[in-house]
Amino acid sequence: MVQLENTKCSFLFCLGICILICSAIYFKANLSNTPLPPTVLSTQTTPAPKTCDILPPAAPGFKWQRTDCKKISYETKPGANCTLLQSDLHFIMAPLSREEKDFPLAFIITIHKELETFVRLLRAIYAPQNVYCIHIDAKAPEEYKTSVRNLAGCFSNVFVATVNEKVTYAGFSRLQADINCMKDLVKSPTKWKRVINLCGQDFPIQTNLELVRYMQGTEWKDRNMTPGIKQPPTMKHRTEFQYEEVKGTHVAPKGKGQKKGPPPHNITIYFGTAYYSLTRPFVEFVLKDKVAKDLLEWSRDTFSPDEHYWVTLNHMKEAPGSYVEGGWEGNVRAIKWRDQEGKVHQGCKGQYIRDICVYGLDDLPWLLKTKSMFANKFETASFPEALDCLELWHRHKVLRHATVPIQPSWRLTTEVEVMNSTVIFSKTGECF
Ligand SMILES: *[C@@H]1O[C@H](CO)[C@@H](O)[C@H](O)[C@H]1NC(C)=O
Ligand SMILES: *[C@@H]1O[C@H](CO)[C@@H](O)[C@H](O)[C@H]1NC(C)=O
Ligand SMILES: *[C@@H]1O[C@H](CO)[C@@H](O)[C@H](O)[C@H]1NC(C)=O
Repeated sequence: MVQLENTKCSFLFCLGICILICSAIYFKANLSNTPLPPTVLSTQTTPAPKTCDILPPAAPGFKWQRTDCKKISYETKPGANCTLLQSDLHFIMAPLSREEKDFPLAFIITIHKELETFVRLLRAIYAPQNVYCIHIDAKAPEEYKTSVRNLAGCFSNVFVATVNEKVTYAGFSRLQADINCMKDLVKSPTKWKRVINLCGQDFPIQTNLELVRYMQGTEWKDRNMTPGIKQPPTMKHRTEFQYEEVKGTHVAPKGKGQKKGPPPHNITIYFGTAYYSLTRPFVEFVLKDKVAKDLLEWSRDTFSPDEHYWVTLNHMKEAPGSYVEGGWEGNVRAIKWRDQEGKVHQGCKGQYIRDICVYGLDDLPWLLKTKSMFANKFETASFPEALDCLELWHRHKVLRHATVPIQPSWRLTTEVEVMNSTVIFSKTGECF
C-alpha cells in the first residue's frame, strides 16, 4: 500500500513537472511571438501552422512529409560506403535528360561553415555530368574541412580546391578563391560549358535543366553573364585608393588614403555583382591573357575586387564571349537589398544582415517570381523553414522535369494519409 502511494506520488510529481515544462515552453513560444504548432494530438480547432504553401498540392486526403525523418548524419567518415551515403543523402546519381548530359556545368562553391547547409546545397545542384570545385576557407575548423573532404571523396566529380585561401569579406582573397578553382577546373576531364560560382548561403531556384536551357537561349548563347555597369562615381573610391586585408578579418584603407595608379592598358573599370556564369574560353582567357593578368595584379589592393574584375573583363571586346554593351541583364541572383525596398521588393520577411535579406518563409513567393537562377541568402540557424520549404519545392520541380525513371531515394517528400483522429497539422518540412 505504501509502495502504491509512492508510485502514485511519483506519478503526480512527474505530471506536475510535465505541466510546468509545457507551460514554460508555451509561454516562451508566446513571448518570442512565433506561434509554434502544438506537438500534442488535438481534435480542437486547428491553428494555422507555417506551411510550405509553394509545394504542389498533395493528393486529396494526403499531405507531404519529408522522407528523411530519421535524423541522418551529415558528418561523413573516411571509408564510408559511398553508394549508401549517396542514397541516404538523396543525391540524384543519373543525368535526368540528354539535354543536360550534353551541356555539363562547372560550379565553384566557396564555403566556411554549416556542413548541413552545404550538403543540402550540393545535393540540390548535383548532377553526375557536372563538376564541382569546393573552396574551403583556410580559417575553417579542421573537422569541418575533413568532413567536406570525406564527402567529396564519395563523388568522382566533386573535389576540394588545390589551394584554399583565408577568405576576407570584400578582400582580394575572395577573388583569388575563384581563380584557384578555375585553375583546377580547366584541368578537369569534364568538358564543362559554363562555370557558375556560389557561396554557402545560396540556394538554387532553377533546376539544372532550366539552367542549361537559360544558358543556351538566344540571349546567353556563347556569352558570359556578369551583370554590371560602368563604375559609378559612388564606387570610385574602391579602385582609386589602396586597401589591404587586415588579419584576415576585414579590408581597410592602406595608410592615410594612398592613391592607386590608373588601371593597366587604359582599361575602363566596371562595377557589378561578384556572381557570374562564364564560358570556358573566357576562363582560359582569364588565366592566360596578359591584360587579364595585369588587371588581376592591379586589383590586388582594391576594395571588393570580385565586384569589378569579372564585369570589367567581360566588357572588353577581346575577351571571348564578352558582352560589351551589357548592363544589369542576367538573372544570376535574387537578392533583397535593403535600399531596394519599395522598388524591387516589399521588404524582408526574414532579417537584414549587412543590408541583404536573410530570407524567411514568406519571402519565397517573391523569390520564385524573380525567375533567378539562384537566391541569396539563407541561414538555417535563424530561418530554417525558408530553406526547408524551398528545398522541397526545388526537388519536386527537378523530378517533374526528369526524363528517366525516378529512384525512390531521390525523393525528399512522401505523401502520407491525413487521418482525422491523428496529427492533423505539422510544420511542413519537419518530421512529426
Ligand atoms: C499570448 O500573446 C497574445 C498576444 O500576442 C496575448 O493576447 C495572450 O494573452 C498571450 N497569452 C499568454 C498565455 O501569455
Ligand atoms: C554498400 O552498400 C550497398 C547497398 O547497401 C551494398 O550493395 C554494397 O555491397 C556495399 N558496398 C560495400 C563495399 O560494402
Ligand atoms: C584611354 O581610353 C580613353 C577612353 O576610354 C581614351 O579617350 C584615351 O585616349 C585612352 N588613352 C590612351 C593612352 O590610350
